[in-house]
Amino acid sequence: MNGIVLAGGSGTRLYPLTLATSKQLLAVYDKPMVYYPLSVLMLAGIRDILIISNPPSIPALRALFGDGSHLGLHITYAEQQEPRGIAEAFLIGADHVADEPCALVLGDNIFHGAGFPQLLRSSREELDGCMLFGYPVSDPYRYGIGEVDASGALVSIEEKPAHPRSDNAITGLYFYDSDVVEIARELVPSPRGELEITDVNLAYLKQGRARLQRLGRGFTWLDAGTHDSMLAASQYVQVIEKRQGVRVACLEEIALRMGYIDAEACHRLGVEARNSDYGRYLLELAETVG
Ligand code: TTP
Repeated sequence: MNGIVLAGGSGTRLYPLTLATSKQLLAVYDKPMVYYPLSVLMLAGIRDILIISNPPSIPALRALFGDGSHLGLHITYAEQQEPRGIAEAFLIGADHVADEPCALVLGDNIFHGAGFPQLLRSSREELDGCMLFGYPVSDPYRYGIGEVDASGALVSIEEKPAHPRSDNAITGLYFYDSDVVEIARELVPSPRGELEITDVNLAYLKQGRARLQRLGRGFTWLDAGTHDSMLAASQYVQVIEKRQGVRVACLEEIALRMGYIDAEACHRLGVEARNSDYGRYLLELAETVG
């Protein structure tokens, strides 16, 4: 399975923070926002990753991750000239998807919870068409909502419904088989001028090949698209990290624990960053894990 992080967009809700930089480069507590969605792909066991962003942000993203080899990954980059919709990721990334299944994660989505790697792994194994991830929310009328039957098959998708049939918000993590590129090629822009990911999901729904994995109440899903949600995400990460003494979305740690890098490589990365708590955390990990 290949992966795509979609990290462009216009970030209009975060003005003026996003006047000179992309939202995904902004801080969520102790690391750039884009670390969080990248960590999800790594936890899913995906090592071949395309990062798509707006042209001015590509050099900064490249400075952050390079070719990914220090994390045991293969990272490439592609430009999205204008934010023409989430589903455009599959046109831009068609060669990257090739004949493989693909996971797409949005650059401002944060997932955190026990058992997540196992859940990602079983969702990969069960994939037949499309797998969405649903999260119970108190305000379903603000989201795309998925209704499932008892077997987990998706029966309806409603965009910001006035009378929601379920509280399952569809999150910014999607698994598809390789048909997704063909499906994206058939799309026409919506009234707001975007290639809508909902239309991709509806195409799979029509074929009876869409499922939704519910993320339970012990799980956290946040998107950091507004000033308040960005601050809330930072506070969430701070509380977990201070209380438990572990880091959320520490890419080097995930690489070490997944066996993508060894303790020696983790130590080297820690030495480079040793003036920060983050670097000292890596040095400690290199001693204790591996
Ligand atoms: P959105 O939150 O829908 O849009 P946005 O980031 O442009 O922000 P705003 O609404 O404040 O103007 O985007 C969700 C994620 O998807 C975000 O990480 C940006 C990314 N995205 C793209 O990279 N390209 C696109 O064409 C769209 C629509 C979104």
